[in-house]
Amino acid sequence: MKSLSDRFLNPDDPDVTGILDDAPLWSVPFGLLLLDRIPMKQNLRVLDIGCGTGFPMLEVAQRLGPGSSIWGIDPWKAALDRLSRKIKIMGIENAKVIHGKAEELPFEDNTFDLIISNNGINNVADPLHVMQECRRTAKPGAELIFTVNLPETMTEFYDVYEKVLLMTGLHAYIPAIHHHIRQKRRPVEDWKAMASEAGFMLKDIRFDTFTYRFASGTALLDYAFIRLAFMPSWLEILDEPMQAMVFQLIENELNRLAAERKEISLNIPFACFLFENRQSPHKRE
Ligand SMILES: C[S@@+](CC[C@H](N)C(=O)[O-])C[C@H]1O[C@@H](n2cnc3c(N)ncnc32)[C@H](O)[C@@H]1O
Repeated sequence: MKSLSDRFLNPDDPDVTGILDDAPLWSVPFGLLLLDRIPMKQNLRVLDIGCGTGFPMLEVAQRLGPGSSIWGIDPWKAALDRLSRKIKIMGIENAKVIHGKAEELPFEDNTFDLIISNNGINNVADPLHVMQECRRTAKPGAELIFTVNLPETMTEFYDVYEKVLLMTGLHAYIPAIHHHIRQKRRPVEDWKAMASEAGFMLKDIRFDTFTYRFASGTALLDYAFIRLAFMPSWLEILDEPMQAMVFQLIENELNRLAAERKEISLNIPFACFLFENRQSPHKRE
């Protein structure tokens, strides 16, 4: 147990003030729904798939308390460096960081009571393989709880993207938009089918939506999180030579729509799945 002096966090320490804004705003609505579903029990062994910079992993670590342990796995080294720094500054002793891909979990069979993922499992290259690894490393009765955004995410933006491609005679790229959406935002039925194939039983699904609102298309495309998390995959839909021209036209069209509608609103529908590993302990073949 921490002593009273260990529990003190100095508000004048720049490292301490630096961690106060630790959750990406984008991740918060998903994370709140996920946190609502997590069993607040002691002595759990927990895995977070795609932990990134540590939200909601560090929330879970702290809320479950010192009898529980949580491991976060992610291939993104810079995010894990930041996460490790936060763990040190906050003095969290039950959180561990693993640099790697969830397709190959470096854990024994039947290790975890709970596996979580906040918008992480939908970002891996092979989600079925990850589910099978979750099943292998989950104890019987363990829960798999994860959030993902749904296929209708940001349709307002993709409609403009398609319209610009049609206007410029670049119809040939439209299937690539649909492929991108299909890869990044799988329908609910896909998640149910993959989890079931891996050996999990569905217990519950919750749905919610939030809205990203911007005063103009320029504000949307300049927004740092859009530039970091979305722009690279939006650009990849096109071949390099036409990217600048198409994105200028998208910006113009979004600005026109913002003037007409008084804002740009992007809806983000998402789901939180709760599965249970109801089968007997996994045995290696
Ligand atoms: C949208 S971020 C979510 C991060 C964090 N959970 C949050 O809510 O802010 C998706 C994360 O999945 C990670 N990721 C991508 N491929 C992965 C893989 N094969 N195994 C584990 N994590 C992966 C990314 O590096 C990224 O940190």
